[in-house]
Amino acid sequence: MPFVKAASAAALPPGSMVQAKFDDDLYVICNVDGELHAMDGRCPHAGGPLAEGALHGHVVSCPWHMWEFDCRTGETDFNPRFNLKTFPVKVEGGDILIDISDPGA
Ligand code: FES
Repeated sequence: MPFVKAASAAALPPGSMVQAKFDDDLYVICNVDGELHAMDGRCPHAGGPLAEGALHGHVVSCPWHMWEFDCRTGETDFNPRFNLKTFPVKVEGGDILIDISDPGA
């Protein structure tokens, strides 16, 4: 699948996150100091919606039990087997696009 529209760039100022959903899959897109990163949006612990958590720098905290993930890499310090996939992301014409067919991690 090619890049698909996930959100409006205007909805994602630095220091914020937005959720995108395709079929039953959730994705979270983070704006870290103007750089955008996309990763799986559902927490591997119990399915918490990561975009509804908190973003501190590049660290996303799950809203349910506070597991933390690096939105640049999808990694968690808790246990590497719970690392999340990341996805290519770009901005075109005011839209944020992600390539959900091409996980990078
Ligand atoms: S569901 Fe995310 S930490 Fe429990």
